[in-house]
Amino acid sequence: MATQNPVPAFDLIGRRYDESFVERDVQIAETAWLIERLPAGARVLDLGCGSGMPTAKQLVDAGLAVVGVDESPVMLDLAREQAPGPDYRLADLRAVSEWGEFDAAVAFFSLLMLPKSAIEQTLRAVRDSLRGPRLLLLSMVQGDFDTFPVNFLGAPTTVSAYPPDELKRVVTEAGFGDVELREFEAEAEPGRIEVQLYLRAVGT
Ligand SMILES: C[S@@+](CC[C@H](N)C(=O)[O-])C[C@H]1O[C@@H](n2cnc3c(N)ncnc32)[C@H](O)[C@@H]1O
Repeated sequence: MATQNPVPAFDLIGRRYDESFVERDVQIAETAWLIERLPAGARVLDLGCGSGMPTAKQLVDAGLAVVGVDESPVMLDLAREQAPGPDYRLADLRAVSEWGEFDAAVAFFSLLMLPKSAIEQTLRAVRDSLRGPRLLLLSMVQGDFDTFPVNFLGAPTTVSAYPPDELKRVVTEAGFGDVELREFEAEAEPGRIEVQLYLRAVGT
């Protein structure tokens, strides 16, 4: 697995992520939108599920069959504690084709930790793993950089970001026909406001 550091960044961040990023209303509303469109028991992939909060818990509480994938054992331990029920797997996001078919996928602030070339390949693999209405929820930060080194909550990592129109184009080219993008401002770590992009996409 290609990571910048021997230890996944989120092993160093752990609980501090949820403590610092508390403005989750939009993410919760997006997930509610998805839940309304899925039958009970639908299989949903949570890519980079982190601590399981708020999304894996919201999905599993709605009666969905959730597979949560993350590269950080620390985050997966938090997820098993705070959001029990999903099938949690320690794996790289890029291995999407190994986990079978899904009715929907969510990737909240996780693909942004990959290089752009890997984001684009992973989005295509996600599209190919989806069946039925092929629903995808995605969130990213707004920007224009590829594998940019940052220090996030004290952990060295990298972030990639697109301007809104380019992100829409990338998602469309990955095989999603109906892409709706909205922008919000939020404080993801103390004192730093960022513009966040939320997309609802339907596969073609
Ligand atoms: C910013 S957190 C978001 C967590 C969660 N989706 C949320 O909304 O709170 C990004 C998560 O993606 C995971 N992640 C980053 N790169 C990954 C990779 N290549 N494979 C698997 N997980 C990865 C991190 O470990 C972390 O838990």
